[in-house]
Amino acid sequence: MPAETLTNQVILVAGGTGGVGEEIVRFLLGAGATVAVPSRSDANLQRLRDYCADAGPGQLHTLQQEMNTPDGADNVRAWLRERTGGRLDAVVAALNGRFYGKPFHTLAWAEWQDFLANYLTAHFLTARTFLPLLEKQGGGRYLMINGGAADAVYPGAVELSVAASAQLAMTKGMALETAGSGVQVSSLVIYSRVATRHEAATYPGQVTSQQVAEHVAALLTSSDYNPRHVVHALHLTPASSLA
Ligand SMILES: NC(=O)c1ccc[n+]([C@@H]2O[C@H](COP(=O)([O-])OP(=O)(O)OC[C@H]3O[C@@H](n4cnc5c(N)ncnc54)[C@H](OP(=O)(O)O)[C@@H]3O)[C@@H](O)[C@H]2O)c1
Repeated sequence: MPAETLTNQVILVAGGTGGVGEEIVRFLLGAGATVAVPSRSDANLQRLRDYCADAGPGQLHTLQQEMNTPDGADNVRAWLRERTGGRLDAVVAALNGRFYGKPFHTLAWAEWQDFLANYLTAHFLTARTFLPLLEKQGGGRYLMINGGAADAVYPGAVELSVAASAQLAMTKGMALETAGSGVQVSSLVIYSRVATRHEAATYPGQVTSQQVAEHVAALLTSSDYNPRHVVHALHLTPASSLA
C-alpha cells in the first residue's frame, strides 16, 4: 500500500507528546491522518498542538488523560468514540523512553511504582483497550516503538531493558494471539539514541525522530505482514533498514 493510504486514517498515538512521539504525530498529520493523543499533561499537549499547527491536512485531537489505570484507558476509548464515531485504524504506542540513571537495586519505591505504572501497565492497558476495537473492526495496525535496550543491558538504565524486553514479549505474543483476525501487531526497535528537536544529535549517523516517523508510516502502510516476524529494526544511519 502506498503512504497516501494514511489519508483519513484514524490513528491513536499513545506517547504522542514524547520526544519520538511528537514527530510521529506531525508526520501522520502531514500525510492527512486523523491523530488522537492522550497525555497526562495539558502543557505537553499544548506544546504538541503548537508544534503541529502547520503540520498539514490531518486533524489532531488531544485529551488530558493518563493511560495507566483502567478508568483512564476507558476514558480515552470513550473520548475517541465521540471524536471519530468509534472508528480506529491504527495504534502507535510510543510510551516512555526515560531511565533513572542509578543501579537498578537502588531504585526508590516511588520510582519502582512509576516504572510499573508507566512503562508496563500503560502498555498493557493501551493494548487491552484498543486491540479488541481493531479486532472487532476486522483489522488494523498496532505498532509498538521500542529501543535497543530490548537486546542489551546498560548499567544505570537496567529498568529500560526490563521494560523493553517485556514490551518485545508483548508484541510477539499479541501478534500470535491475534493472527488471522486482520490485526497486524508489530514493533519498531530503534538501535540508536534518537535526535529530536529537544535533543540534538551528538554522534554521526544518529537516528533522527523524522527518520523514525518515516519508518512508522512505512510500517503502518505496508501490506507485508507475518505474525511470526514482527520485529523491525532501525539502525544507525545510513545503514538503517526495515528488517
Ligand atoms: N528517545 C530516544 O532516544 C529513543 C531511542 C530508542 C528508542 N526509543 C523508544 O521510543 C519510545 C518513546 O521514547 P521517548 O524518548 O519519546 O519517550 P519520552 O520522551 O519519555 O515520552 C514518553 C511519552 O509517553 C507518555 N506517557 C508515559 N506514561 C504515560 C501514561 N501513564 N499515560 C499517558 N501517556 C504516558 C508521555 O506523555 P506525558 O508525559 O505527556 O503524559 C510521553 O508522551 C520508547 O519506547 C523508547 O524506548 C527512544
